Amino acid sequence: MIEKIRVDLGERSYPIVVGSGAWGRIKEHLEGRTPSGTALVTDDRVGSLYGDTLLQVLSGADPNPLVITVPQGENSKSFDQLEYICRKMAKAGIEREGLVLALGGGVVGDLAGLAASTYLRGIRLIQVPTTLLSMVDSSVGGKTGINIPEGKNLVGTFFQPEAVFADVESLRTLDDRDWYSGLAEAVKIAITLDTDLFEYLESARDLGPGGGIDISRVILAACLRKADVVRRDEKEEGIRRVLNFGHTIAHGFEAALGYGEIRHGEAVALGMKAALRLSQDACGLSREHFERAMALLERIPVPEVNMHPKEIEPFLKRDKKSVGGTVQAVLVSAIGKSEFLPLMEPDLLLSALAEPGKREGRENDSVTD
Ligand code: GLY
Repeated sequence: MIEKIRVDLGERSYPIVVGSGAWGRIKEHLEGRTPSGTALVTDDRVGSLYGDTLLQVLSGADPNPLVITVPQGENSKSFDQLEYICRKMAKAGIEREGLVLALGGGVVGDLAGLAASTYLRGIRLIQVPTTLLSMVDSSVGGKTGINIPEGKNLVGTFFQPEAVFADVESLRTLDDRDWYSGLAEAVKIAITLDTDLFEYLESARDLGPGGGIDISRVILAACLRKADVVRRDEKEEGIRRVLNFGHTIAHGFEAALGYGEIRHGEAVALGMKAALRLSQDACGLSREHFERAMALLERIPVPEVNMHPKEIEPFLKRDKKSVGGTVQAVLVSAIGKSEFLPLMEPDLLLSALAEPGKREGRENDSVTD
């Protein structure tokens, strides 16, 4: 079954098409407005799996699309790859009515989105997410970006796609780590905004791939919440900041460990656990809700991270949400109810990374959960 949600942004509104066979709807979408040239941007892994299928889908609208392939992995979110894509498009003569079709996970979506938003000051963009993380979060809402050594996603734009097509069949080739990494972003939506989704995930016997959860339902629920948040606050001046729950810590780990060493969702899971611990003292999260949220997060496997929390401190200060050097924390006062607080002492967030029994003795407080 295929379902459609709308991100309501006036003239820039767009559909998110979710379900098995969703890619079949791309042709119909393009028939209304045929692009003058198409760049299919993908990575080497996704390109080899699904590139031909997409070329087939596109053939009615553009018989000769330009295929641009970048290396798989977080390191492709770089100025080098951005330049590579833009120069390829320029050499091929892609014009303003041209289209970038981003086929892949969050890396390809963020990078190709940034290329589409800056090349010729902006051309058309369609997101075709192939990972769970990009389906539940990054393909929706218009954030684009690349990393620099000083921090993750510090260079980017807000640039909405004209459509998102999430075909759940592509999740069949996802490895377990990427599955759980995507699930962590769905858990983020559940803990901060959606008690129904939380209860659904909490009651599932097996959250793993092939474990029986209705993944289209999870994607639709997450996208519905995200679409509503983006409609209310496209440029992250208010409510959208909630979507950064767990992300201040996560981005710190990703940058400090070296991009690609830990999956984004794994880092977000670590960050959410710290934010939950802090939420008990800072905004009255009850013991019951704390334990339920932690229990759900414990079901997301995260590799051991041997790093002293102090090593991520410099990255916290450069977090995009910081105001006047003060870290802004997204916390929760109950499951489904989030709060946004300035954090006068970033040390509190860092010490919340360790379980309470392990907080004493700085020599032992590298993060291991
Ligand atoms: N991934 C968070 C946001 O789109 O705002």
